[in-house]
Amino acid sequence: MSYNLLKGKRGIIFGALDENSIAWKTAERVHEEGGTFVLTNAPIAMRMGSIKDLAAKTNSEIIPADATKVEDLENLVEKAVDILGGKIDFVLHSIGMSVNVRKGNHYTNMNYDFTTKGWDVSAVSFHKTMQVLYKKDAMNEWGSIVALSYMAAQRVFPDYNDMADNKAYLESIARSFGYFFGKDKKVRVNTISQSPTPTTAGQGVKGFDGFIAFAEKMSPLGNATAQECADYTITLFSDLTKKVTLQNLYHDGGFSNTGVSQEVMEAFTEDKD
Ligand SMILES: NC(=O)c1ccc[n+]([C@@H]2O[C@H](COP(=O)([O-])OP(=O)(O)OC[C@H]3O[C@@H](n4cnc5c(N)ncnc54)[C@H](O)[C@@H]3O)[C@@H](O)[C@H]2O)c1
Repeated sequence: MSYNLLKGKRGIIFGALDENSIAWKTAERVHEEGGTFVLTNAPIAMRMGSIKDLAAKTNSEIIPADATKVEDLENLVEKAVDILGGKIDFVLHSIGMSVNVRKGNHYTNMNYDFTTKGWDVSAVSFHKTMQVLYKKDAMNEWGSIVALSYMAAQRVFPDYNDMADNKAYLESIARSFGYFFGKDKKVRVNTISQSPTPTTAGQGVKGFDGFIAFAEKMSPLGNATAQECADYTITLFSDLTKKVTLQNLYHDGGFSNTGVSQEVMEAFTEDKD
């Protein structure tokens, strides 16, 4: 169902790799709601993924950018404003990667070059993106910037590894930069803390099948899907949430506030019959 919530709004969407990506679903929803945007991803992802299909479907252009490279981001923002015909109203940062996770390095046995690369891609890229937008004065007033996070920023999920630290860093950047973006440009900045979701990045985490099944049983409403995350993101890009900023917003079916559920208790209760 479409509500025309984003009619006339222009944006940049990072991180659509394939049709499972949260960014892919969000791009489709933004398109349905009347928004226009450019798609961007790391040059290597252009070769691996199917972003061209998404671009054709949503009438959008693709501008490759490695989100850790400021010069790529400057080029991206300049071209986006040019192509879309004006300043930007919404940005989705949907980027995450840990080399330690990829290489199977345990949290107690990190390679710190990999750690540095991981936080640059997963957290500092968000600062770089906002700094470029800020310096170029490329955002419209009452614009909205959203990044995706996970609850391992607050609680321990052992196999999430250094991505937990990266997400804590990401959420802090959202608050710190959000303060200045709010004061100086009336732009809001938030993170959405999403349920485990079966995507390329999600399934890269060891034990993913176990913790997605556990979260499903713990959450009163069940896990939030990528499609539902796209729906939620649309509301944050719309004019209906103008005073929501500096927040980490849980989109997890209630998981984060549930101590235990009936189903989880039953799994641990001995059968007395
Ligand atoms: N899948 C989950 O369980 C889950 C849960 C909560 C939050 N998230 C977060 O959602 C976001 C999107 O991930 P997803 O699950 O849709 O997986 P995904 O693998 O589809 O998306 C991750 C994207 O990051 C991009 N990327 C990696 N390095 C980059 C770089 N240097 N420059 C630009 N882009 C780069 C990849 O190309 C890919 O498109 C991530 O921040 C992820 O941590 C995912």
